[in-house]
Amino acid sequence: MKFFIDTANIDQIKEAAELGILDGVTTNPSLMAKEGITGTDNIYAHYKAICAIVDGDVSAEVISTEFKGMIEEGRLLADLAPNVVVKVPMTKDGVKAINWLTSHDIRTNCTLVFSAGQAILAAKAGATYLSPFIGRVDDINWDGMALIRDIAEIYTIQGYDTAILAASIRTSRQIVECAKAGADVVTCPLPAILGLLKHPLTDIGLAQFLADHKKAEGK
Ligand code: E4P
Repeated sequence: MKFFIDTANIDQIKEAAELGILDGVTTNPSLMAKEGITGTDNIYAHYKAICAIVDGDVSAEVISTEFKGMIEEGRLLADLAPNVVVKVPMTKDGVKAINWLTSHDIRTNCTLVFSAGQAILAAKAGATYLSPFIGRVDDINWDGMALIRDIAEIYTIQGYDTAILAASIRTSRQIVECAKAGADVVTCPLPAILGLLKHPLTDIGLAQFLADHKKAEGK
């Protein structure tokens, strides 16, 4: 399972990259706005800066909601760097745009996915990645992890190539559950990734090892 970081914050992307386990980055217009990045030129420059930090795929989202605008934007975004993946929302025009971009060798990430039916349509359109938002599903008291399991089962039975990129992850526990449920990729905030490091027995065990070493050395 690949690890992407879900942020447009350069410092956090660098911190995750330095860990040596980072496979890519996802952004969205809200995450760009959170970093105070506004205006097309600045937004595109920011995507280029992110793409220079990571070797893996970087999802850059279109703002247009109509087919023509989506494909024009998609071409511009794809030209920014070879590792850009164009993020397109799960709408009627979005599905058409994914199909068009795929047929023109531009990779896509179908975003805002909340059902298995949407996942089937995105795969049929040729999406490179599919982003089911599990946290937002849980927020409305449905089962986000069950959605990942359903999609994984369908994609296996049908032999679809689209990678399941579990998104809207809030906790470290969800990352572990996604690995069991068959996600190909998880995209997470940095604290959820760092939370995987934590176990009290690791801290206790390390303190004991160091104390024993010190005692044996007569210090
Ligand atoms: C990723 O591609 C999504 O943009 C992101 O995971 C959404 O997460 P949120 O539901 O925490 O905003």
